[in-house]
Amino acid sequence: MVDDWWGRPISASLPRLFLDHFHRTSLVAEDGDGLAGFLIGLLSPSLPDSAYVHFVGVAPRARRGGLARDLYQRFFDLAAAEGRTKVKAITSPVNQRSIAFHTAMGFTVTGPVADYDGPAVDRVVFQRELPLP
Ligand SMILES: CC(C)(COP(=O)(O)OP(=O)(O)OC[C@H]1O[C@@H](n2cnc3c(N)ncnc32)[C@H](O)[C@@H]1OP(=O)(O)O)[C@@H](O)C(=O)NCCC(=O)NCCS
Repeated sequence: MVDDWWGRPISASLPRLFLDHFHRTSLVAEDGDGLAGFLIGLLSPSLPDSAYVHFVGVAPRARRGGLARDLYQRFFDLAAAEGRTKVKAITSPVNQRSIAFHTAMGFTVTGPVADYDGPAVDRVVFQRELPLP
């Protein structure tokens, strides 16, 4: 359903490995109609102070009700409990909703950074500090 939720082909960026290997630090939200939202997050194995949100999505029917905010807050809490002090995420420059959401969540916004993910693949970079628990 991610292509529908994003409004463009995006499912190639969410291969099964994220579900198989990062479910302990990911979140799913359900309502009476099924899947309402999800967050795919990870604690960086290489940067011991860092956590990363790979994907967050909320069903169009459930938007602007605070669900993504709640998923992020839960992820911040679990990351801080594991000693992480920074959270990072990226998005496509066309994704104005994502930029507005991350700005509202207190992230600093950098970019678009040219060639971030390869030639002509520009990305907006989000970073936020986490308070120590
Ligand atoms: C971005 C997304 C996850 C936000 O989910 P959501 O549950 O609607 O967000 P919330 O209700 O928690 O919003 C929290 C705050 O973010 C900001 N925000 C969220 N969506 C916004 C929008 N469309 N326009 C402007 N600001 C927005 C607002 O400040 C909002 O607070 P408010 O409603 O009190 O004003 C959702 O729009 C989505 O799934 N989009 C498609 C997938 C995507 O682009 N994911 C992010 C890139 S990985």
